[in-house]
Amino acid sequence: MKVLIVLYSGGQAAKEQPRLLGTTENKLGIYDWLVKAGHEVVVTDDKEGPNSAFQKNIVDAEILVTTPFHPGYLTKEVMDKAKNLKLCVTAGVGSDHIDLNAANARKITVAEVSGSNVVSVAEHVIMTMLVLVRNFVPAHEQIIAHKWNVAQVARDAYDLEGKVIGTIGCGRIGYRVLQRLEAFNPKELLWFDYTDLPADAAKAINARRVATLDELLSSCDVITVNCPLHEGTRGLINKAAIAKMKKGVWLINTARGAICDRMAVVEALESGHLAGYGGDVWDVQPAPADHPWRDMRAPNGNGNAMVAHYSGTTIDAQERYANGTKEIIDNYLQGKPQNPANIIVENGDYASKAYGQRK
Ligand code: NAI
Repeated sequence: MKVLIVLYSGGQAAKEQPRLLGTTENKLGIYDWLVKAGHEVVVTDDKEGPNSAFQKNIVDAEILVTTPFHPGYLTKEVMDKAKNLKLCVTAGVGSDHIDLNAANARKITVAEVSGSNVVSVAEHVIMTMLVLVRNFVPAHEQIIAHKWNVAQVARDAYDLEGKVIGTIGCGRIGYRVLQRLEAFNPKELLWFDYTDLPADAAKAINARRVATLDELLSSCDVITVNCPLHEGTRGLINKAAIAKMKKGVWLINTARGAICDRMAVVEALESGHLAGYGGDVWDVQPAPADHPWRDMRAPNGNGNAMVAHYSGTTIDAQERYANGTKEIIDNYLQGKPQNPANIIVENGDYASKAYGQRK
């Protein structure tokens, strides 16, 4: 059986840090295990275009493993070439790089390692909120540039305390963000999701569910996006949605880049409607050198807290998603049932309720 694994290349870092498991060098720690069991395993970071190792090797692979950090984009066209494909494993969380409807049409199973990096992302969200609200980036850049000007950076620095903070999506990550925010004594915590929380989970946090996205957008000083990318969320945060937000809102997106409209974000930050935009996800990855989210700034030259997609790929998270990937493949090979929480689509239908409201 052929297993195709698409990962980012770790170069020198992967040699020096063997716990960088999600790299082509360290191969999720599963390469030897699969080869010993007699399987053919191809590991590559070459994923773009018809001549890429990804598209060449997908034709006879039975299992595809890829990560959201360096996704092998499994479009319907690529899937059409993949005659043997039965199982796609996302080493991490978020399977929007796969055309899930096309996978259903082909009865391909898509599984992810649910929960594996949700704390990692929630911590990154809190960090990014603080970085933006406290105007950290220009304050730090000033020091590196051997300068000292308190007023220049304090003019845009605020406290998180006393702010209204809301999450779009209150699943594993959104919920953990709210839990962590309570310690900052916000004015109010809000969440919007079409799925309700279990009663005990809702009770355990001091947060209010709002009935509409518009209510969340117009009420918050800080908004964090924590829903998957699917037909209902692609471009959800567009010009019209941003216009409903308060002027000076901080927007954090660690969910998926394409949930926010690229140019709507740039224009809103440059006009000052957004005081800041930060996160680690881009509408195409790796982000091209000229992606406008790299250089966009608020009028005072601040407000950009973008980084490469790494919030969910801490060393701790890599261990969890590498182990989880092995478990999913092992279950498949042995014909054992999968953990239902890991299944996104199976037998031609959505098993997860997180990828859009469906009849
Ligand atoms: P989850 O499945 O536990 O929760 C997602 C929630 O979003 C669900 O409650 C769902 O009902 C809700 N949702 C879906 N569509 C919505 C909509 N239109 N409006 C409001 N709520 C909506 O997923 P989890 O673990 O919280 O992860 C969420 C997303 O975060 C992933 O799908 C992935 O895209 C992203 N992620 C990013 C990582 C990173 O490294 N930056 C790492 C892990 C996840």
